[in-house]
Amino acid sequence: MSSSAGTYPPQQGHAETNEELYQQFTNLVSSWPCFPALSNYQLYRHDDGWHSSLAPMVGTMVADACFAARPSDVVVATLPKSGTTWIKSLLYSTVRRREHPVGSSDHPFNSLGPHECIKFFEYQLYTGNRIPDLDELPDPRLFATHVPFASLPRSVLASGCKIIYVCRDPKDHLISQWSFANKFRVRDGLEPLSVDAAAGFFCDGMSPFGPYWDHVLGYWRVHLAHPEQVLFFRYEEMSRDPAAHVRRLAEFAGCPFSVEEEEVGVVDAIVKLCSFENMTGLEATKGGKTELVFGAVDNSSFFRRGVVADWVNHLSPETARRIDAITEARFTGSGLRI
Ligand code: PPS
Repeated sequence: MSSSAGTYPPQQGHAETNEELYQQFTNLVSSWPCFPALSNYQLYRHDDGWHSSLAPMVGTMVADACFAARPSDVVVATLPKSGTTWIKSLLYSTVRRREHPVGSSDHPFNSLGPHECIKFFEYQLYTGNRIPDLDELPDPRLFATHVPFASLPRSVLASGCKIIYVCRDPKDHLISQWSFANKFRVRDGLEPLSVDAAAGFFCDGMSPFGPYWDHVLGYWRVHLAHPEQVLFFRYEEMSRDPAAHVRRLAEFAGCPFSVEEEEVGVVDAIVKLCSFENMTGLEATKGGKTELVFGAVDNSSFFRRGVVADWVNHLSPETARRIDAITEARFTGSGLRI
């Protein structure tokens, strides 16, 4: 099954190209400090203090220059490996439930992965010299990003559009990121990285879109100041009570569930549709791919175990303590507990 299979969701219109703009940002990023990292791609340090490989950093800057947000847009913001695939599934199936009732035989999830239903600015939309025409997407338009708050497209901030942030325990985020990166290292003929080496990079802030703590605190502080603009979820709490999170998501996105919908169990149906167990069984997951800036990625690679505290199976107690100590020191006084 190809990434373009199916007729849903409506695709963005014709994309113009602007090679010059991409080249300008590529030159700028290439002049910034760069470091080895856990994946086979080096990480560059953005002027705003975060790290990523070259192409998504350039895409971030093109999105900043070109994306025109609407107040009705909804943007999912996450660090990688923090529940992005899950929150995209929940948001898409909640917001689009009238056009695509859960359980309908032609539901988009039967042919498309969640990353094709809600696309990343920096991995999918602003890539390959393209400036996409996003005007035709239906309101509310749904987008995603891994970029820290400070580097979001300026029109996102100016429009006041809604942002949904999901964070995850740093130790589980690290293990998920490490497993994912090793898959690609092996594919590309490199040695897998040890978990200790990965933890070393992570603690030094050398992780994609990290340092982890800056990313989480950035969105947390804006959530505290503007809860109506930034919704803040934790992966662990979503696991404990997914239905409550779906209700909050729907209210935040401006499409709360009606009494009738509650009575017929629409919330539970969305939770079930987006559950790890159901999503991993779908053909779109088992056989589909998503085109990202680095190439086509198997949809199945966005699913591993989907549990809380899997880190205990991988991290030594010393490494776990080291990460916990950094987290405590960085989050003290912020009111944030992970
Ligand atoms: S990515 O590449 O940034 O989009 O990855 P992301 O989706 O943020 O994180 C992948 C981890 O999320 C788990 N996952 C889920 N958990 C619960 N429910 C659902 N539906 C779900 N979908 C994906 C996935 O298994 C990865 O976590 P780990 O701990 O590696 O299993």
